[in-house]
Amino acid sequence: MAAKPSGNTFAATPSPSPISAAEAAPSQGGAAPPTSPVTIPFRPGLEGVPATQSAICDIDGLRGVLTYRGYPLDQLARKSSFLETAYLLIWGELPTIFQLREFEQEVQMHRRVSFRIRDMMKCFPASGHPMDALQASAASLGLFYSRRALNDPHYVVAAVVRLIAKIPTMVAAFQLIRKGQDPIQPRDDLPYAANFLYMLTEREPDLTAARIFDACLILHAEHSLNASTFSARVTASTLTDPYAVVASAVGTLAGPLHGGANEDVLEMLEEIGTVDQVEPWLDRAIADKQKIMGFGHREYRVKDPRAVILQGLAEELFTRFGSDPMYDLARALEAAAADRLGPKGIYPNVDFYSGIIYRAMGFPTDFFTVLFSMGRLPGWISQWQEMRKEKQPIARPRQIYTGEAPRAYVHMKDRT
Ligand code: CMC
Repeated sequence: MAAKPSGNTFAATPSPSPISAAEAAPSQGGAAPPTSPVTIPFRPGLEGVPATQSAICDIDGLRGVLTYRGYPLDQLARKSSFLETAYLLIWGELPTIFQLREFEQEVQMHRRVSFRIRDMMKCFPASGHPMDALQASAASLGLFYSRRALNDPHYVVAAVVRLIAKIPTMVAAFQLIRKGQDPIQPRDDLPYAANFLYMLTEREPDLTAARIFDACLILHAEHSLNASTFSARVTASTLTDPYAVVASAVGTLAGPLHGGANEDVLEMLEEIGTVDQVEPWLDRAIADKQKIMGFGHREYRVKDPRAVILQGLAEELFTRFGSDPMYDLARALEAAAADRLGPKGIYPNVDFYSGIIYRAMGFPTDFFTVLFSMGRLPGWISQWQEMRKEKQPIARPRQIYTGEAPRAYVHMKDRT
C-alpha cells in the first residue's frame, strides 16, 4: 500500500490558483489568523489532491488499464459474473465455489422487498426521475433495518446482501409503478441480471442480453475516487448506516456532470442523424468549442478501457439482434474524432457506447443512470467496508474562509 502522503507532497503540487489561508483570510484588525497559516494550495474540486488511500481499484490512464483488486477489468468482464466481481470488490479476494454459491443464494433469498416499500413507491410521482426514486428507496432501507451495528459482522453481511439484492427489485418496481402497473416479484430460478430483466417485462429474458447486461454491471462496478464514491466515503466516515451511504452516493451520481452523459450521447447522435453528416457536424462542433459527449476523461489519455469492452459487447448484441444504425453512426464519429481529438488525448469514455447498448436492450433513456448505480453498488459498498475496517476518521477538510470579519449585530431600525 502506498505510503501516507506527507504535507510536502501536497505543498509541492502546482496549483491553478494557489491561495493560502493566510492570504485568503480577511483582515482581523491586524491580528494573526486564529489558526496557523495553511501552506496546502487550494484546488477547486480537489483536483489531484490525494484524499484517501485505497486497495480496491487502480486506474492507469496512460495505458488504459483498469484493475479491481489487481485483476484486469477485461478479464473480469469476460470470465466473471457481476456477483462474483461484487464479492471480490467487497471482501477483497475471488470467492471459492462454496463462498460464491452461498453469496448468490443469500442475494437470491433477499430480493423481495416489503409491501410497505412497494406502497411507499406507489406514492412517488410517476413523473419523478428514476434516480430520485432510487435515492429515496435506498434510504428507506435504513428505516426497515436500522440497527447501525457496524461492529457486528452479521449486521454488515446482511446489509451488503440486502443492498445488492433489493436495489434491482426497487428499480424495476418503480419502472412498472410509474407506468401504472403492479411490481413483478423476483423469480428464484433466474440469476441476478436475468432476474432484473424479467422483473421489468415479465417475459423470459434472452440469455445473451442477460449476459451482456451482467458484463455492463461489472464494467460500472468501481472506478476509484470519483464524485459519488467520495460522497459515499464522506457519509461513511460519520459511522452512519450503509443505506445512507448508498443513498448519498446515488444522489451524487444523479448529477449531469457525473452519471448522465450517456443520455447526452444519444441526443448528440440523433442530432447528427446520418453517417455522411458526421464529419461536417464534428468540424462545426470543434470550431464552436463544443464538448463531444462521451469523449474525454479526467483519468484517461487513451480510449477508456470500459469503452473498448463495451464496444465488443455492442457488436455481440447487434450480431444477435440485428444491426443498429446508431451504432454505425457512433463508430463513424469515433473514427472521425481520432484525427481531430486523439492528439489531445481525447477518446471515447464509458458513456459513449453504454447508452447505445441500453437503448438496444429496450431501457428508457432516463433509466441509464439507475443502471449505472446498480453496477456501482459493490464499489460504494467496498469503499464503505474499507473505511470501516481501517477505522478511518470522520471527513472534515479545511475551508478557506472568505467572508466578513467578526462584526456586531445591527438592530433592524439601524439598518440602511
Ligand atoms: N470534446 C471536445 N473537447 C474536449 C472534450 C470533449 N468531450 N473533453 C475535453 N475536451 C477538451 C477541452 O475543450 C479542453 O480543451 P482546451 O484545453 O483547448 O480548452 C481540454 O480538452 C481539457 O478539457 P477539460 O474539460 O478541462 O478536461 P477534464 O479532464 O477536466 O474533463 C470531462 C473531463 C469528462 C469532464 C470532459 O472530457 C467532458 O466534459 N467530456 C464530455 C462529457 C462526458 O462524456 N462525460 C462522461 C465522463 S466518463 C463517466 C465517469 O467515469 O464518471
